[in-house]
Amino acid sequence: MTRVGTIDHLLKWGPTHVNICLLTLCPAPRREASCVERRPVTSTWPGSALASVRWLVGLGRGPVSTSVAIMEIVTSCDRPDLKCTAEAAFRVKWPEFLFPHDPVMLQREALVVEFFPQFDVLMLDGDRVVAGGWGVPIRWDGTMGDLPAGYDSAMVRAVEGHQSGVEPNTLVYMTVAVVDGETGRGLAAELLTALRTRGVEAGLSRVIAPVRPTLKPKYPLTPMASFASWTRADGLSIDPWIRSHQRMGAAILAPCPGSMLITGSVADWESWTGMVFPETGSYVVPAALGLVEINVAEDSGTYSEENLWVQHL
Ligand SMILES: CC(C)(COP(=O)(O)OP(=O)(O)OC[C@H]1O[C@@H](n2cnc3c(N)ncnc32)[C@H](O)[C@@H]1OP(=O)(O)O)[C@@H](O)C(=O)NCCC(=O)NCCS
Repeated sequence: MTRVGTIDHLLKWGPTHVNICLLTLCPAPRREASCVERRPVTSTWPGSALASVRWLVGLGRGPVSTSVAIMEIVTSCDRPDLKCTAEAAFRVKWPEFLFPHDPVMLQREALVVEFFPQFDVLMLDGDRVVAGGWGVPIRWDGTMGDLPAGYDSAMVRAVEGHQSGVEPNTLVYMTVAVVDGETGRGLAAELLTALRTRGVEAGLSRVIAPVRPTLKPKYPLTPMASFASWTRADGLSIDPWIRSHQRMGAAILAPCPGSMLITGSVADWESWTGMVFPETGSYVVPAALGLVEINVAEDSGTYSEENLWVQHL
């Protein structure tokens, strides 16, 4: 079933029917949907989910009004025309040193797109991209010992598992980003929920994520294990992004040191960060979760990112 979310309405789309739900705001989880109408999908319904929603709105019936902002979730390969716009919108959401320079990602990106297009999604408001995210399916036995070492190794396990015919049972949320101006409305959780639905429909019974906490760059000297244990009075994490996962029902599993490894020359790091690194040593770099190690004699800079495994399902 495809979920077409809105700010205050939600349509749950099935092969034979659509459930029209009203979303109500409440503390935790912040949204609840109650079904107010169930309509059969007939041959008179136009093709795509979004076209059908517009058709429904055009009828002026039910709780869906023309003032409702409609969000549609599509796979990136369904809308190749949006590739450049989406890339430009999301590029600014990540530090320059991170994704364009992760060798594991660079080597496997094309294979991930080829093997798992169903887990690479965009959220659209009309034709405007508002959020995007992707995941990979892996085999995981559910134990801490069998967790991938982090982001990079989850990608490697997914690709190599697919190539050697290993049956996956776990969806790994890899990244999600919400465009500037649309954050703080729960869109990331909507998108992750859509990915989770796709995973469950594909037979994946577990969902995990190597989370990159958004507040962590303010505490680059603090080990992830300590940071992840810091809670507010309500028991939730001090970190807004870990909190979002917790509100979705996720439990913290363990830190994953070495989740991603970025290396480059000193000049590379200077151009990626806009800083200068005159001496060998450990440096605090904006947007990095930990320190960047610079070795001037060897002309190298290394950043090993530590993330946090959480389990949603
Ligand atoms: C992290 C991100 C995906 C969250 O998306 P979102 O749709 O805004 O998520 P939510 O609406 O659930 O907001 C999560 C929390 O972050 C807070 N938040 C969101 N945007 C914020 C901003 N620009 N500044 C400060 N806080 C912000 C929200 O208020 C909320 O905190 P709360 O628990 O106090 O309510 C989004 O901010 C983003 O794209 N960041 C850059 C990419 C990234 O870091 N992705 C996550 C790692 S894969």
